[in-house]
Amino acid sequence: MNKKGTTILAIVAILAVMMQFFPIDKTNPVLDPSKDITAIHPVPNDIKLLLQGSCYDCHSNQTAYPWYTSVAPVSWWIKHHINEGREHLNFSTWADYSTERKEHKLEECVEELKEGEMPLESYTWMHGNAKLSPEDRQKLVDWFSNLQ
Ligand code: HEC
Repeated sequence: MNKKGTTILAIVAILAVMMQFFPIDKTNPVLDPSKDITAIHPVPNDIKLLLQGSCYDCHSNQTAYPWYTSVAPVSWWIKHHINEGREHLNFSTWADYSTERKEHKLEECVEELKEGEMPLESYTWMHGNAKLSPEDRQKLVDWFSNLQ
């Protein structure tokens, strides 16, 4: 490698190391299980597992952080998804939503699932078992539709 290439490589390496000094905050907000959607509506066990397995990492206060969430800049990008996901829809604080808001969110869930938008593809790429089979997707669509 020529001198310029070596310098660029060294700069990239230094930046990559420096990024690691800015870890993300992995503290989950305090959990009140009585506010969770599973406490407000009767949720069959298979549905609960699907929600927790495919949605809760971004749409709840029970996010699990695997090892790669410690590696910047990937960690920053993941944290952004979690913040945004919770902001749009948080199953852990379902009880705080007004009746209209709940209705609207349920409609959105059906829509996002039918369109195959959720769970995010970039997420299932790393979390193979969060991927929904067509049958599981339909089960969730039916369950969310029946709640409305
Ligand atoms: C990797 C994180 C992630 C996962 C996992 C995930 N979502 Fe999302 N979700 C987001 C983000 C980020 C947004 C907001 C931006 C967007 O719409 O793309 C969002 C938006 C939504 C919205 C729109 C809410 C609104 O009213 O604006 C719904 C509904 C939704 N997700 C449902 C689900 C369901 C149901 C699952 C599980 C089957 C799921 N999501 C899994 C990250 C995620």
